[in-house]
Amino acid sequence: MVSGCIPIAVEHLQVHSEIGYDLVDAKGLLLLKAGEKISPALISQFNRRGVRTVYLRRVAGATAAEAPQGTEEGAFSAASIGNRLFSGVAALSNQLVSGKIVSTEALVQSFETVDRHCQADRFTVLADAISSSNAHEGSPHHRGMRSAMISSAVALEMDLDSRARQLLFGAALMSDISLQMPRFVELRDQELRSVEQEHELRELYRQHPESSARLLETRMPDADPTMLTIIRQSHELCDGSGFPRGLRRHLLHPLSRIVVVVDAFVRLTETDSAGENIGLVPADALAYLVLHALYGVFDLEVVKALVATTAAYPVGTAVKLDDQRQATVVRSQGKHYLDPVVRIDGQTDLVDLRRAGIRIEAPLTAKSWRRLPKSLMNRRLWEPAFAPSSL
Ligand SMILES: [Fe+2]
Repeated sequence: MVSGCIPIAVEHLQVHSEIGYDLVDAKGLLLLKAGEKISPALISQFNRRGVRTVYLRRVAGATAAEAPQGTEEGAFSAASIGNRLFSGVAALSNQLVSGKIVSTEALVQSFETVDRHCQADRFTVLADAISSSNAHEGSPHHRGMRSAMISSAVALEMDLDSRARQLLFGAALMSDISLQMPRFVELRDQELRSVEQEHELRELYRQHPESSARLLETRMPDADPTMLTIIRQSHELCDGSGFPRGLRRHLLHPLSRIVVVVDAFVRLTETDSAGENIGLVPADALAYLVLHALYGVFDLEVVKALVATTAAYPVGTAVKLDDQRQATVVRSQGKHYLDPVVRIDGQTDLVDLRRAGIRIEAPLTAKSWRRLPKSLMNRRLWEPAFAPSSL
């Protein structure tokens, strides 16, 4: 091992995420500069060359404030929390889908891991969830994991107690479990569908919150009934335009209103494996949610909490400043959501935009994200969710 460096398995590197350390090989040669994003090409290169382990090296001259919080080992664990959760979540989902009876133990463990990291530094968890919009491509567990991680950060922003946070996490993670059932997957992946099959697919999708709750009721006997209620209402909207029952705001559990907002944010920003469905820049997705909250579709308080948690330009977003420099958002500032803390490209110092009197001019469109044309606003969110490219 290179002295003073932290070893990290290549399989734990998160594609498109940014690491606040230099990435070096076993001989200490620089592979990726701190602040740059891990590209799929870099991972492929490691795999081609049989590289299994690389090393994180603190950037020379960086102060403690610039490094992630916590111990170095702990900090990197937080940065790859999505990856660490992934295999456990996939195993749990597969057991449920194959008909096994399971306990909530794995769910609780995943919650405790994410909650602990959120309490220590929720921005790292958020950055991980937001920047991984197209990691684990094609995985049915991925959306649930992103939703659960972002929900946990929002729950802390809303000062929810531990029980509420756990219910929210479990519901966000498991609400789409019935979409992994063989019949749905078979119909969804079929290239040509008859009218009857199309109808069956739409109906399966429309009923999936109820189907997921029922599946958990029978196969996860110790699941909390409130968590199942939240799952049943995970697509109900405040103005009654949601499904399957079209319930209005006053009939919805307060935690359901959080799941539906986070689910919409995740859906709006995600990119599919084929690259056909390019996610929106997070700032545009938030703008969409704010607009529709004002129309009464989403709970405005929840959307405000999401904006306060993520900042209008969420952590990980590349932005252009009004002095024409480019930077990456690393911390939100609560109510000052237009003025986050950023790292200017090519520099290690962090800049508090509010104090520096610098404004963000616009988000920069990364390859995996695009701006939101007005004509696509509605289609993007409400497009048939069972098209292969949007699952
Ligand atoms: Fe869903």
